[in-house]
Amino acid sequence: MSSADMKDRGKWGSKIAFIFAASGSAIGLGNIWRFPIMVGLNGGAIFVFVYILAIFFIGFTIMLAELTIGRHTQKNPVGAFEAIKPRTPWKLVGYLGVMTGVGILSYYSVVAGWAMGYLYKTAAGVFRGEVTWELSQETFARFAASPAEILLCLFIVIGVTTLVVSGGVRGGIERFAKVLMPLLFVLIAFLAVRALTLPGAGTGISFYLRPEFEKLNTKVIFFALGQSFFSLSLGMGTMLTYGSYISKRDNLVSSAGWVCFSDTLVAFLAGIVVFPTLFATPGLHPEQFQPSIGLMFQVFPIVISKIPGGYIFGVLFFILLIVAALTSTISLLEVPTAFLIDEKKWRRKTAAVVIGVFSFVLGIPSALSVGGSQALSKFNFLGKMDLVFGNILLAAGALLICIFLVYAWGIAKALAEIASGNIRFRLKPLWVFNLKFLAPLTIIIILIFIKTITG
Ligand code: PFF
Repeated sequence: MSSADMKDRGKWGSKIAFIFAASGSAIGLGNIWRFPIMVGLNGGAIFVFVYILAIFFIGFTIMLAELTIGRHTQKNPVGAFEAIKPRTPWKLVGYLGVMTGVGILSYYSVVAGWAMGYLYKTAAGVFRGEVTWELSQETFARFAASPAEILLCLFIVIGVTTLVVSGGVRGGIERFAKVLMPLLFVLIAFLAVRALTLPGAGTGISFYLRPEFEKLNTKVIFFALGQSFFSLSLGMGTMLTYGSYISKRDNLVSSAGWVCFSDTLVAFLAGIVVFPTLFATPGLHPEQFQPSIGLMFQVFPIVISKIPGGYIFGVLFFILLIVAALTSTISLLEVPTAFLIDEKKWRRKTAAVVIGVFSFVLGIPSALSVGGSQALSKFNFLGKMDLVFGNILLAAGALLICIFLVYAWGIAKALAEIASGNIRFRLKPLWVFNLKFLAPLTIIIILIFIKTITG
């Protein structure tokens, strides 16, 4: 690679900068919007239990695999597979990742747009005073079904994402993530404490944290695994791409560990806000509880209305949620952009704009599918996009990455790459075992049962 090419690719300023940026990609709507829905749909605490195991044994394993391939090749997913195994079909795994990124970006930006609309509503005082369960549900349903507002929000989200990605790795992504992510964490922790102290919070806590093992089944495992990939931004080469900007001297193992830890903590806290608040709210019967796609948007205004200075907290919360979403949309757009820069020699700006426009168009049916258009709502377009891109293709991608590392590249070479950071890798035997057996076998079994799981 020429030095001019290297310069256009960019590098993180430090290990901490990488951890912030990668956590920025990982922490997002997946933690605060998607995680509570998955918990609600899949038996509550049992899902949380399986999810934590999935993160520890499988998510971490694949995260480290992606970072290692990325740093070794210093390339985007397509280029990385091609560099290690030239002229073989392995580069199709990279293409799969690029495609999955665009698919997720399209509907994820719709939800980020909802957060934007909610920021506006909160600032305009819609949630001042007592917020009941009925009001909260009605406000969301009405908002999600108004096409003009939703499409405008979608346009703004993809527009801002495109602008930041055009700015390049250090100028754009890093500066953005470093300041605002810690603030989000503090605010969620604060809201969690409030939710826990609501009268009647206990039912929510036991739903969330007391597992009933008879509820364990393949569906729970499938969605817990899918959620762990989605939440950690794995299976489509995002972490591979971010890994390609890491310096050879940095410790990949602890970096991966920190990202997994901070991501899980935020999801966990989001659940602590949602379930106690939900079950402590009059008008909602826990036995009849069926989470909808708008769960978070129905619950957060309620807890926010119950704290002194709720107005300011509400505004701040939605600003930070949008930032968390944007650091993730940025990473989703970065994968196809890096591919076009590296492989097709496009200019960064052109690449980002072309993919941005395409994702916007692809996002339109998702945007209209939560009440905006009857046919699309009936088909549950956004839900289907999430199932296919956010669960199935990420799991398939993660599986192929495992197989690639073990059988095409070779564990010894991967370990040598990890060792260049000069580290003691105590979990090495566990990582190798998980990579060779546990992760691929679990994913294969889950994918075989997919038809019965998803009906
Ligand atoms: N991890 C992000 C979240 O939890 O919100 C979503 C995401 C970003 C998924 C990047 C996949 C990805 F490659």
